[in-house]
Order: sequence, then C-alpha cells, then structure tokens
Amino acid sequence: MLHAIGWILVSATLSCAIAAEVKLGKTKVIGADFPQFKQEFFGGIPFASPPVGNLRFKPPVPKFTLDGASFSATNFSASCVQSGLPFSEISEDCLTLNVFRPADLPRNAALPVMVYIYGGGFAHGQSSIMNGTGLVAQSVARGTPIIFASLNYRLGPLGFPQGEEAVTNGLLNVGLHDQLAALQWIRANIHAFGGDQEDGPHGIIPGHPAERVARGAGGKFPFISGTVLDEGTSFTPPTLMGEAQAEALGVITFSPSPAGASALQNAVEDTLAHYSDDPADGCPYFTGNDIFGLDPEYKRVAAFETDLVFLSLRRWFGHAAAARGAPVYSYMFTDPQPENAPELGVTHTSEVPYVFGAPPAGNPGAPMLSKQMMDYWISFATSLDPNDGKGTTRPKWEPFTSSKEVILQLNHANLTMVADEFHISQTDFNDRNHFVFSQ
Ligand SMILES: *[C@@H]1O[C@H](CO)[C@@H](O)[C@H](O)[C@H]1NC(C)=O
Ligand SMILES: *[C@@H]1O[C@H](CO)[C@@H](O)[C@H](O)[C@H]1NC(C)=O
Ligand SMILES: *[C@@H]1O[C@H](CO)[C@@H](O)[C@H](O)[C@H]1NC(C)=O
Repeated sequence: MLHAIGWILVSATLSCAIAAEVKLGKTKVIGADFPQFKQEFFGGIPFASPPVGNLRFKPPVPKFTLDGASFSATNFSASCVQSGLPFSEISEDCLTLNVFRPADLPRNAALPVMVYIYGGGFAHGQSSIMNGTGLVAQSVARGTPIIFASLNYRLGPLGFPQGEEAVTNGLLNVGLHDQLAALQWIRANIHAFGGDQEDGPHGIIPGHPAERVARGAGGKFPFISGTVLDEGTSFTPPTLMGEAQAEALGVITFSPSPAGASALQNAVEDTLAHYSDDPADGCPYFTGNDIFGLDPEYKRVAAFETDLVFLSLRRWFGHAAAARGAPVYSYMFTDPQPENAPELGVTHTSEVPYVFGAPPAGNPGAPMLSKQMMDYWISFATSLDPNDGKGTTRPKWEPFTSSKEVILQLNHANLTMVADEFHISQTDFNDRNHFVFSQ
C-alpha cells in the first residue's frame, strides 16, 4: 500500500518535471509549461556562437548543439542591441530562437512549423513580443496543429554594417545571415520538438530585387503578401510642412540611390506630381477633408509613402510571381483602428496582432476577424493554401493571377474579394522607378 502511494507520487512528480523537456544531442533543454493552454514554451535557445569580441561585425557562426547536460529555456533571451529599449533588455548576445508547441507531442509528430521573423527596418525588433500561444491554440482547436518559432537577428550597425570596409570584407547584411543560421538550426533540430524538418532555407537574393525580378528570378513558392490601408502614416512626421519638406522626406526615404542623387531627386519630384494635394484624396484614406490640425501636405506625403514603400512593391512582386506561376494570395487590411491617433488611420503593422490572435480592444468586430485571419494563415502553413475549409467560416481567398488581379479585403464588416485597383495609376507609374528607389 505504502509502496503504491509512493509510486503514484513519484510518477505525478515525474510527469510534471518531464513535460516541457526536449533532448538536443546530449543536452536536456528545459522549457516552461503552460498547462492552461496545454502548451510548452522553449525560449532563448542560442543558434549561433555569441557574436561578441572577435565575432562582432562577422557573419554568424552557426551552432546546432548546446553545451552542458541541461539548458534552461524557460524565458526569452535579451533582444538585440537597438535604440528605444532599456539597457537591461538588450545585449549583443542575442542570437537565440523560441519555440511554442502543443504539450505532449510525440517526438515524431512532424508538425508544420511557422517561423516569425520580425520586421522593423533592420533597426528594431524583438522576438519576445510576438507570442505564438494564440496561433498554436487555434491550430490545435481547428485540428491542424503547428509549432511556432521566432528568432532574433542583429540590427543596426551590428547587423548591417555600412561603408567601404563592410563592402570589402563581405560583411553587409550579416543580420540576414543570422536569419538564415536560425532557419538552418530549425531545419536541423526542430524534429526533436515534434516539428517537420522537410523544407529548409535557400539563401539570400544576391543583388537588387528590382533587377533580379525583372530578369524573371524567383521561385514558384506560394506566398501571402499584403498591405494595410494607410501604411505610410507611421513614416510621415506630423510636423511635416510644405512641398520642400515633402520632397526632402522622399529623398531621405530612398537615399542613397543606386541610380545617383540627381536621378533620385527627379524621380521623387515626378512621383509626387502624381499625388493630389486635395486632403480628400490623401492618407489616411476615406477621412474626407479632415487634416487633423496638420499641414495639408501630411496626407499627400503619407499617400506617397504608402504606395512607394508598400503597395507598389506588393503589387509588383505579386505580378512577377503570378506571371511565373507561383500561387500568390494578396490582401489589403482595412479594419478600423479606433485606438490609433486619427491621423494614423490603419497604419503600418496594424494587421499583425490579428494574425497572432491579439487584436486591439475597442473594435468589437476585431476578435472574429482575427480568428478568420489566424485560420487563413494556419491553413496556409499546413496546406500551402489558405482555404482548407477548417476552423471559422470565411470566404474563399482567391489567388492573385495575371488574368484575375484580385485581393482579399480584410475588414470585419466586409471580408470579401475585391479587384486590386486602389491607386493603380500611381503604382503603375511607380513601377518605372524601382531601381532608382533601391528596390
Ligand atoms: C522574460 O523575458 C521577458 C522579455 O525579455 C521579460 O520582460 C520578463 O521579465 C522575463 N521574465 C522572467 C520571469 O524573467
Ligand atoms: C503568451 O501569452 C500568454 C497569454 O497572455 C501568457 O500567459 C504567456 O505567459 C505568454 N508566453 C510567453 C512565453 O511569454
Ligand atoms: C464591401 O467592400 C467592397 C469593396 O471595397 C464594396 O464595393 C462594397 O460596397 C462593400 N460592401 C458593403 C456591404 O459595405
């Protein structure tokens, strides 16, 4: 009797202790349990030698094993060095990745893996603020479980060194090589977490995308690509005044240009001429003559930034990929963001929290749209098609093809396919200048 009770206690303790644990080579990786979500989390796992000392400003040195008998992976690591964060949250020693997975996965589960690589203009970004719990929970609930992973890469001068010395030593873009190293780590090790290691990373585009794409480069990989309605408002200073500052901002945004300074100046002037200075035509769109107490030029420049930096490129890559026969799924996100300052509208990255199941409060339709978006994305991650019919009821996301240029309008009150024609005359004009704009 005593013996039996002892055994029950031991097994109860053991099953707790071994829950969030993965064996990687000789090392036991100990993660954190989230029983309330039936999930496990492994954070701050290094995928490369710390890029410090002699390795600073060097390509990453990938490292696919850990040292020691056990490794504590119960929290995120520090973020890579960047402005705007307290010193206590940043470190040069930041080349780590994180894994969120359903609990009790068998080692051979071979689940599809969704990897999140932060944006932020190569100057900002933290894997620790992107919480994969909502996505993993929805993936399990809809019957297509996934593993979610996220990674850090070096930023600013440490990730993207500039100047002659960096060029000569082949050190431009070491931050992109960090991303590749992390993807290679995932390919080498994710099976130990219950992930599918079938597909791996391929490389970095050597040269200007504009030139490569014009020559037909690029594979037939399916992809989802989209923009939000008012992308450019985040990149337009509310203090902007007058035409001269509008031009200056355009030039700064795209400097240095591979076509030279005067070609860039001309292209900015020619392009701005295609943007109406009537506030009713400006960005944030559909806000009538409201100029939010700002200079009228603000809405014009925000429209310019929206198209030049985002919409034109989404369209142009989409056209090229569709012409190559790649399945392309495009979107325009227009869901109202009542918590934003009104001059921001539906600004850059507004859609990202929806994909993670954490839309902002204050918009009662947002939670449902968020679930539908998670379903599209998870469906795509698990079947390469957003329309697997599982999860929430949602319209078919038709592919964008050369003969049918349609995109999904992501709006909770009107989730529907629409023709891809918003600002088409401006973006068609912009297509002649991608190289000048370093694209
Ligand atoms: C875990 O990491 C996050 C982000 O770096 C930090 O805010 C938090 O305080 C850490 N939690 C613990 C328990 O250390
Ligand atoms: C993710 O979000 C959930 C729900 O808010 C929270 O309980 C959990 O601590 C977060 N996970 C991590 C690793 O921070
Ligand atoms: C839904 O959006 C489309 C495209 O923007 C528009 O043509 C249509 O009138 C909208 N429908 C409703 C009910 O608002």
